[in-house]
Amino acid sequence: MRIDVITIFPEYLAPARLSLLGKAGQAGIVQILVHDLRDWTSDKHRTVDGAPYGGGAGMVMKPGPWGQAIDSVVAAPADGSSLSEVATDQGGRATLVLPTASGKVFNQASAERLAQVEHLVFACGRYEGIDARVAEHYRDRLPVEELSVGDYVLAGGESAALVMIEAITRLIPGVLGNADSLTEESHVRPGLLEYPVYTKPPSWRGLEVPPVLLSGHHGKIAAWRREQEILRTERMRPDLINHTRSGTPPRPDQERGES
Ligand code: ADE
Repeated sequence: MRIDVITIFPEYLAPARLSLLGKAGQAGIVQILVHDLRDWTSDKHRTVDGAPYGGGAGMVMKPGPWGQAIDSVVAAPADGSSLSEVATDQGGRATLVLPTASGKVFNQASAERLAQVEHLVFACGRYEGIDARVAEHYRDRLPVEELSVGDYVLAGGESAALVMIEAITRLIPGVLGNADSLTEESHVRPGLLEYPVYTKPPSWRGLEVPPVLLSGHHGKIAAWRREQEILRTERMRPDLINHTRSGTPPRPDQERGES
């Protein structure tokens, strides 16, 4: 997978070179290219923002530099191969992701969908956001996803892009050391949180590891874990539990309380 990130704070993406993602980069599984939006400005001050038409607080990011930047990364092969080889959704195009508090909520299903795409472009807005014509224009040319990482407002899209990139890339074969951890964890089976986990020592500060986990009885351990998943989901996310009890995973519109 190739991921381009366009931002006015390229240093913000430094964590993408660490840990799992760093290793995936070295192994050639995921290639992350970070670009400074100001490289596509044409004035002396490298201006990326302007006052909002219609008035209101703050500044809006100008469409011009964004158009130049996105055109350029969408068209530029990272490694000399042709565009159709590097940038494929189903139809040979990159997918443009616009992190925004006004987008659809990004969840595990979104991560799974985007993990199938060969080329992702993240356009990280700041200030009051990017001129709305940018999303409108690219919608005619590419798959465009306006995504929020939660119902709160961040100062910009960079931290949201990092969250999404981590959730997406760890699903790509070869990025995680242990593929089994993908099937056990919270949100992989829709509507259930993961059971609590323990390691040595068996007793710590007066707290014991649940005896069933030391029993070696696989059936009992599996039953205990399933029960713990339900108890934990009831305690932490009661909004999810009814769906689990009925055996039907929530529809995306139900997850957002829109049904
Ligand atoms: N930019 C500002 N707030 C955001 C959020 N909640 N998710 C994604 N991008 C954002």
